[in-house]
Amino acid sequence: MPHQPQGVLILDFGAQYTQLIARRVREARVFCEVVPCSISVEEIRTKAPVGIILSGGPASVLDADAPHVDASLYALGIPILGICYGMQLTAYTLGGTVEKAAEREYGRVPVTFDTTCPLCTGMKRESVMWMSHTYHVTKAPEGFTSVAHSKNCAFCAMANPEKRIYCVQFHPEVTHSEEGQMILQNFLYQVCGCTGDWTMTAFIDQAIASIRERVGENGRVMLGLSGGVDSSVAAALISRAIGDRLTCVYVDHGFMRKGETESVREVFTRQFPVSLIICDARKRFLDKVAGVSDPETKRKIIGAEFVACFADEARKLENVTFLAQGTIYPDVIESGSVKGSAVIKSHHNVGGLPDDVAQRFTGGVVEPLRMLFKDEVRKVGEELGLPREMVWRQPFPGPGLAIRVIGDITEEKLLTVRESDAILREEIAAAGLDRDVNQYFTVLTNTRTVGVMGDERTHDFVLAIRAVTTDDFMTVDWARLPYELLARISARIVNEVPHVNRIVYDITTKPPATVEWE
Ligand code: XMP
Repeated sequence: MPHQPQGVLILDFGAQYTQLIARRVREARVFCEVVPCSISVEEIRTKAPVGIILSGGPASVLDADAPHVDASLYALGIPILGICYGMQLTAYTLGGTVEKAAEREYGRVPVTFDTTCPLCTGMKRESVMWMSHTYHVTKAPEGFTSVAHSKNCAFCAMANPEKRIYCVQFHPEVTHSEEGQMILQNFLYQVCGCTGDWTMTAFIDQAIASIRERVGENGRVMLGLSGGVDSSVAAALISRAIGDRLTCVYVDHGFMRKGETESVREVFTRQFPVSLIICDARKRFLDKVAGVSDPETKRKIIGAEFVACFADEARKLENVTFLAQGTIYPDVIESGSVKGSAVIKSHHNVGGLPDDVAQRFTGGVVEPLRMLFKDEVRKVGEELGLPREMVWRQPFPGPGLAIRVIGDITEEKLLTVRESDAILREEIAAAGLDRDVNQYFTVLTNTRTVGVMGDERTHDFVLAIRAVTTDDFMTVDWARLPYELLARISARIVNEVPHVNRIVYDITTKPPATVEWE
């Protein structure tokens, strides 16, 4: 069994930034796990972390129902870093004083550090940190001294080097904190003695070994392959572990982009040979959505049909007792708590599997990417050698092109949106912008306008181009694509794609618009 990486535990007190702390720790090449703050000291001891981070949280330690920790946590001898609420909790639990501040501190605050403290090694004496708090520590517990202060706060950071307990009032995990990452790295490397053994190469070896152990010599696994990053990387990893004892089911609903089905077929027959079932359900789906123009009804029909196709294939397979899924870490953790053990994921397009199918998977669910963030999944994909387009594939909705044909769907309209999308993708890639623009596609509007071609008047469709930049898809901006590029795309589409005689560029942010048109 390959060597397990050192791990840090992050106790989650419900802060909006907890996932960010975890990502920063991973960026520092240290494995970490987010666990609910209600975890017992005994469980922590069993997990034997090299360090513990107490996250921020919305409560005040002085509230009657505020989450607390057992004081014995601080006697485990494991280094601790308390962040914001985690600092106040530490002060409160160990006999310091926490009070409501005269002024709420919010935003970028200049902080002066004692750079002789191991937590602050290598930092500037003055550094701007991101604060967001109403309560603060006014008296440190015994054994602690202040190692950072600001104009309004005497204890921006406090330390008990002997016990290896450190606390910060600010948020080192957010990028607004100038030297925040250095604080986290100092905690991990100077205080916890981490070696930086969390690499994707190590992860791959370990994941392959644990898949083999879990599935056994003869076990068989089924996976729904969507062509998306997560399921493709999961398939590649499992294929490396157990070869064609992995059966991948790819449902071709006919709403995929140009070339996607072919690329899935190529990759998972040649590069990562698995037992690949491509279920050609194009006609079945098209018949189901014929005449339907309401977006939500389209989604529901496609979702249900997708499950039905997958279930039909699953019922045909003999002796396949494990179901694999491309679940990733953000699916597993949620603020303030960690979701329980794996259940068969009900993807928002898929819904749960029928009971008789779920019951076939007596071995349970295999989720090799369960502990990874999206950027780590991409790194794994790259290291495994999956094609770049697959690893860096932009998000693509489950119902696919069906929600990019506004109104009722026909084969001809699908062809228009698929061909125009291919041109758009080609041109954006040729302009070297495919990594800068987070999502881009064409939409076949339901509007026809008059145009002229040669001597003839035409009455054809308006096609819209949508291209957005965003960090999280909750809010987006429209991409400022160069005019020359837009001109090239427009000229190519009207020349090469039938039934389009006018092109518009969507210049709306989200909110108020959404990314997709339907
Ligand atoms: P909206 O349009 O809601 O989209 O701003 C935000 C992100 O979600 C994607 N999206 C979907 N993904 N099934 C999916 O799997 C859907 O029904 C769906 N609708 C929107 C969208 O492409 C964007 O990335």
